[in-house]
Amino acid sequence: MEKLIGRNLNISVFISGRGSNLLSLIKYSKNKNSKIKINLIISNNKFSKGLEFAKKYKIKHFIIDYSKEKQAEHKIYGYLKKNKIDLICLAGFMKILSPGFIKKFKNPILNIHPSLLPKYKGLNTHIRAIENKDKFSGATVHVVTPKLDSGKIILQKKVRILKSDTEKTLAKKILKIEHKLYPAAIEKILKKSSL
Ligand code: GAR
Repeated sequence: MEKLIGRNLNISVFISGRGSNLLSLIKYSKNKNSKIKINLIISNNKFSKGLEFAKKYKIKHFIIDYSKEKQAEHKIYGYLKKNKIDLICLAGFMKILSPGFIKKFKNPILNIHPSLLPKYKGLNTHIRAIENKDKFSGATVHVVTPKLDSGKIILQKKVRILKSDTEKTLAKKILKIEHKLYPAAIEKILKKSSL
């Protein structure tokens, strides 16, 4: 990660659905002093709503057929190299990258996850936090490693879980903080060597 400090970064965002985190990253990249550029968007789902943002902001995007994972990753790897991507940001990408792919792509891969990791890796994080009667939940940006949702944590932010919260209201609150957290995590990587 050290080699990313202070650099201009070419970023590829991987999505599967709505793409609201993608939009927040695009907006952040458009800031006057931003050092990042979103050059490439990858989606495994042709119906992903996030692809509309790719079109709106004229960002190169590819839909990858994931029925054969090895071929899919081979294709993605080619696009990453061709577009000189320094950093991958997974943003609601619902496929698990293979250990081989993570190893081969020498630059960092980040993910945003809707829980206070290491709590609630995997899916259905909000309902698990509510059922467990947790007082807080939140979101985490972490480095992707072959072990699911277990890489180094870059930034995390908490929200309080109210008695009245449902899976839907909690998800909404957390999504709102995610939109600030992902850009802040990238800022941190660009500035600090403590990763
Ligand atoms: C976000 O809440 C993100 O944290 C979550 O999917 C949502 C995507 O929303 N990611 C995961 O659950 C990954 N395991 P978006 O498509 O609007 O950015």
